[in-house]
Amino acid sequence: MTVKPNAKHLKDYTAPNYFIDNIDLDFNLDDSKTKIVAINKVRRSGSHNDPLVLDGVDLTLLAVSIDGHPIDNYLVKDNQLIISDLPSECVLIIETEVNPEENTSLEGLYKSADAFCTQCESEGFRKITYYLDRPDVLAVFSTKITADKAAFPYLLSNGNCVDSGDLENGQHWVQWRDPYPKPAYLFALVAGDFDVLRDNYITTSGRDVKLELFVDKGNLSRGHHAVESLKKSMKWDEDRFGLEYDLDVYMIVAVDFFNMGAMENKGLNVFNSKYVLADAASATDVDYLGIEAVIGHEYFHNWTGNRITCRDWFQLSLKEGLTVFRDQEFSSDLGSRAVNRIQNVKVLRSAQFPEDAGPMAHPIRPASVIEMNNFYTATVYNKGAEVIRMIHTLLGESNFRAGMDLYFKRHDGQAVTCDDFVASMQDASGVDLTLFKNWYSQSGTPSVTVTDHYNAETNVYTLSMLQHTPSTADQKVKQILHIPVDIELLDEQGSPLALTFAGKPVHHVLNLTEKQQDFVFDNITSAPVPSLFREFSAPVKLNYAYSNEQLTMLMVHASNDFARWDASQLLINKHVVENVGRVRDKQSLELPAVFGQAFRDLVANEQLDPALKAEMLQFPSTNSLMGLFDDVDVDALLAVTGFIKAEIANSVASSCAAIYADMPKHVYAIEHEHIALRSLKNVCLEYIALANVADVNALVLNQFEQSDNMTDTMGAISAANKAQLPCFKTMMSAFESTWSHDGLVMDKWFVQIGLSPSKECLKVVKATLEHGSFSLANPNRTRSLIGSFSALNTKTFHALDGSGYAFLADILCQLNSSNPQVASRLITPLIEFKKFDAARQALMKAQLVRLSQIDALAADLFEKIDRALA
Ligand code: TRP
Ligand code: ZN
Repeated sequence: MTVKPNAKHLKDYTAPNYFIDNIDLDFNLDDSKTKIVAINKVRRSGSHNDPLVLDGVDLTLLAVSIDGHPIDNYLVKDNQLIISDLPSECVLIIETEVNPEENTSLEGLYKSADAFCTQCESEGFRKITYYLDRPDVLAVFSTKITADKAAFPYLLSNGNCVDSGDLENGQHWVQWRDPYPKPAYLFALVAGDFDVLRDNYITTSGRDVKLELFVDKGNLSRGHHAVESLKKSMKWDEDRFGLEYDLDVYMIVAVDFFNMGAMENKGLNVFNSKYVLADAASATDVDYLGIEAVIGHEYFHNWTGNRITCRDWFQLSLKEGLTVFRDQEFSSDLGSRAVNRIQNVKVLRSAQFPEDAGPMAHPIRPASVIEMNNFYTATVYNKGAEVIRMIHTLLGESNFRAGMDLYFKRHDGQAVTCDDFVASMQDASGVDLTLFKNWYSQSGTPSVTVTDHYNAETNVYTLSMLQHTPSTADQKVKQILHIPVDIELLDEQGSPLALTFAGKPVHHVLNLTEKQQDFVFDNITSAPVPSLFREFSAPVKLNYAYSNEQLTMLMVHASNDFARWDASQLLINKHVVENVGRVRDKQSLELPAVFGQAFRDLVANEQLDPALKAEMLQFPSTNSLMGLFDDVDVDALLAVTGFIKAEIANSVASSCAAIYADMPKHVYAIEHEHIALRSLKNVCLEYIALANVADVNALVLNQFEQSDNMTDTMGAISAANKAQLPCFKTMMSAFESTWSHDGLVMDKWFVQIGLSPSKECLKVVKATLEHGSFSLANPNRTRSLIGSFSALNTKTFHALDGSGYAFLADILCQLNSSNPQVASRLITPLIEFKKFDAARQALMKAQLVRLSQIDALAADLFEKIDRALA
């Protein structure tokens, strides 16, 4: 392995010894030689004689001057520029040159197709100029951009446009100024030729904000949903949190080459075009909802992230967990709260729980980091949002709001810590969060084991709870956590029972604050069925020995919609575990009659919201089912899931066919009731296809041919893919001829290729690398084809000849040098090898060892491979 990059530790944090209060940037844009002049107002912090140490990566340093005098007694080494003997205040001018067209990492200044753009979070600004590239250094940025006017009519940066002009050589320039001091990670520059969708928004206090959406030429008609989502976001943040936008213009640029979803740069968000562009013909309902959520997310960062930012990158969840919580609430307030909750919990169980059980386990506030880009994780984002949600559950909406208000009052304009956030919540509410704070420092998924006892003589019911957090790769010893347990008790008829003890009401959210704790209820006249962790009130695994009858009762009668869905998942989980045990014991697979009946009743239930019905019918992902086992037997798990899915399909196919036939035929619209019906229709189609009833091929093909929207088109293709129907090929080639010019739409096609259950899958995936619409240089294409195959196609990726693992490693070798961030995200399924059987472990490890021997292994991959092989 190459020299080991150093880890940074939270405990070693020290405040900056210099500040930069102001930076004037001057960019002369050129494909291969962009020149950047940075004029920094530098101020020493306190009295010391330490040198100023600036960060810089892949830069050509042209000149340095201090207070107008060129200097050359500086030191450049290890990606640092070190300058000694500075006066206590000075003007430091640094001239650098960079090569945007060769920058394939998509970090710093790079070209996305014909446009220049930047990505600075987390440590990309150092690829533009030498700087104090850390979030606790806040400066006022002014940016002048000069470029060819014909090729780059739009020259954009943060804040307000203050001046512009033409030059004689066909060039022009624009001067921007952002009045709000900000860390360098929020800097952005974009230059290119776009179509612009313009709108405006009047804030509650009457400020008229210009909204501008920049998209590739010809894509204007696909921008409306994004702009509508932005206006809804602005309104929602005013209504729910009393927060208004603070600049005169809000710009969003959609680019095709982007490593993540989007970036909240002050006043100038840069978006992956996947989270902007949509119309009925090319985008699914899921795409539409994703756009709304991500537009909201980046907008909400303006307060939770930009106005109040992070002291250091260990505090990333301060802005990300909180902003994910806010975007989840936004989507829930606008759409179905239950469906949103279900989808968010699926992310926890299928991505975050495995991360917490694997070699990269880390608390939502990591204690040590090698490559910061590796910590934009499901843990920091999604478990981080769950931690905020638990605070919300413990405080209630009005105390939570008071906590947010206090947080803004105390810390506006500052770079702060997660402790500062919790202190605001505690001080505003009076709720003691001392024990709760362990959620910030502790990794791993806790389990809560519940047993109960009913005394028919005294009518007393006792719930006994035991919490346990298993050791994780990063942390052996675990602390007790404060776990909110939201419960309901149902009587035999399924009616909720009042929660009381000794004549007093008991709140439905129990506080589990000890290792072992009993909760006692009286006046309970028959043995109740407990609904536990309603609304997923804590990110834990529940162990309670539910019977089939109790679960089917909860599926029908739990008053919380999420709890009804969760009961359906628990029912499936229970039988997955039991049948995997039967495979191990060489017994034949079996399911009790109540199992199929539960799903038949579910489909037949006409009272049920179609959106919830569709969710309850969906089979859990293989990745979340793997979380039920310490040692995953892939072959047994696949056999069992195939068997159970077929059993559900056979139980429900005829009623699904009836629902399918009776579906109202709407003109396509993005409305929640329509979305719900389409999702129910497409789940039904999938079960019809899996049950292989007569004429199913014609039925699926007919949906594809009649479809006036991408949701139904993909519903047909996906069902045919899963059921391996003959029409799959026909539809895929029709899709390809319609969309091969449009990479963003072709991503859906690449996903289907990666997910194929066919024996030929890997062969086809490899051939598809040469497809005209595919390119490893584009992260969306790469994720669609390679990511779907390696993260979701359990059967082929985990083939016992090791071919899936070797293929992924081959791709990672290439991406290591071109785009290490994307490589590092794709490696996840390989590093989580410890949960598999010995044969697979050996094969996966062999690929990791092979990768570890790459010359110039990027820090991103190094950190994960090193931890995995440790
Ligand atoms: N802050 C961005 C968000 O929350 C995340 C992000 C965008 C990012 N681009 C990135 C993180 C590149 C790391 C690297 O949505
Ligand atoms: Zn974010």
